[in-house]
Amino acid sequence: MVTTIQASWAAVEPHSGELARLFYGLLFERAPQTRNLFPVNMQVQRSRLLRAVVHVVQMVDRPDELAPFLSQLGRDHRKFDVIAEHYDALGSALLGAVAHFSGDAWTPAVARAWTDAYAVVSHHMRAAAAAERGPASWLGQVISHRRLGWDLAIITVQTTEPIPYSAGQYLSVETPQRPRLWRYLSPATPPRDDGTLEFHVRAVEGGWVSRAIVAHTNPGDTWRIGPPLGSLSLHPTTDRELLLIAGGTGVAPIKALLTQLVEQGGQRRTQLFLGGRTPDDLYALPELRTLSYTQPWLDIIPVLEHDHGNTGAQHGTLADAVTRYGAWVGHDVIVSGSPAMIRATVTQMLVAGTQLDQIHYDPFTMD
Ligand SMILES: Cc1cc2nc3c(=O)[nH]c(=O)nc-3n(C[C@H](O)[C@H](O)[C@H](O)COP(=O)(O)OP(=O)(O)OC[C@H]3O[C@@H](n4cnc5c(N)ncnc54)[C@H](O)[C@@H]3O)c2cc1C
Ligand code: HEM
Repeated sequence: MVTTIQASWAAVEPHSGELARLFYGLLFERAPQTRNLFPVNMQVQRSRLLRAVVHVVQMVDRPDELAPFLSQLGRDHRKFDVIAEHYDALGSALLGAVAHFSGDAWTPAVARAWTDAYAVVSHHMRAAAAAERGPASWLGQVISHRRLGWDLAIITVQTTEPIPYSAGQYLSVETPQRPRLWRYLSPATPPRDDGTLEFHVRAVEGGWVSRAIVAHTNPGDTWRIGPPLGSLSLHPTTDRELLLIAGGTGVAPIKALLTQLVEQGGQRRTQLFLGGRTPDDLYALPELRTLSYTQPWLDIIPVLEHDHGNTGAQHGTLADAVTRYGAWVGHDVIVSGSPAMIRATVTQMLVAGTQLDQIHYDPFTMD
């Protein structure tokens, strides 16, 4: 089923711009109420939803990994007030658009493969959404916005009741500056009784939401925050040594995990490789270093891609730096950063002999 879907998607992908237009056209024709869920200017999104659905549909052969993710995503989609009929409309829009661009290649076998895969995906999402009794989203107020440079800000938001996430997970947020453009951010704090959450936001080049958050967030702004997603966590049943690898703002969930370790009276020997391109990217280093002075089980190793003089950092990519030490036998490895950094690091570690089941990262990131 998956190979059939992959082959048919590869054939229509060169037309993905037009395909996306047809997809949304069909969706809004079949379920007009869903138009209001999306931003006024659809160009901005460049078909994130379509890409996400196609990405997920191509993974139905990995149900053990996919099912927990789809359950989280289904619970998350309750914030859109998505109802069962919307899933049917989206499924028929997806199949209609792919069929149109497939032409004669849209055989009964291809149609069946897409239909069955979409049915599996939407079933998981709908079932999890229907079973969930908690809030569909939370409102939070920005209580501080600290700018660390032109492209980076640390923002603290407080919700009226704590969101039930665990350290290492991520949340989708919507800000008043960019209504209906939801983006994922990873809290840098474990859940707090007072409902405060710290986020680290990097403005990316040409980024609609991240630039607005960094430049225009104000204390008092109200953010809407969706339910938790993601599978990064510390496995409390093991005391194996930990290797943490964080690039850029990927340090946020790692800081949340470290804080949790400290609060649990941390004893697990832990090494954190903290990497970036420039010294500014290592913005979290001073705070984490100070933490390591009081926690003898924790070592922080800064890594910079290029030589920036006497910074005390190792040189190279994070992948280069960690694999210099071999295969990290007996360690639990957690990798957090951009999809490209995660891909490069995991690949190089596997070549160096680290076992795949030692390495933990969020595999379903779509950016
Ligand atoms: C699981 C997860 C957790 C995340 N946690 C955080 C976090 O804690 N802090 C944070 O700042 N961001 C985080 N992100 C990234 C964030 O969700 C947004 O994707 C990012 O802020 C870009 O959004 P945008 O609207 O500004 O860019 P868009 O308008 O969506 O994209 C604009 C351009 O930037 C490119 N682009 C998108 N993302 C990146 C990137 N990360 N690096 C370089 N170029 C990019 C796009 O390809 C596009 O060309 C996380 C993403 C995921 C999937
Ligand atoms: C089975 C099906 C579905 C899957 C796998 C899915 C997946 C996703 C994912 C992963 C995102 C986040 C994209 C990103 O920011 O990277 C997203 C966003 C979104 N989804 Fe879904 N979704 C599904 C069904 C639906 C349905 C039925 C609706 C309602 C019509 C819907 C409405 C939205 C909206 C409004 C967004 C945010 C806007 C956007 O990113 O374009 N989704 N979806």
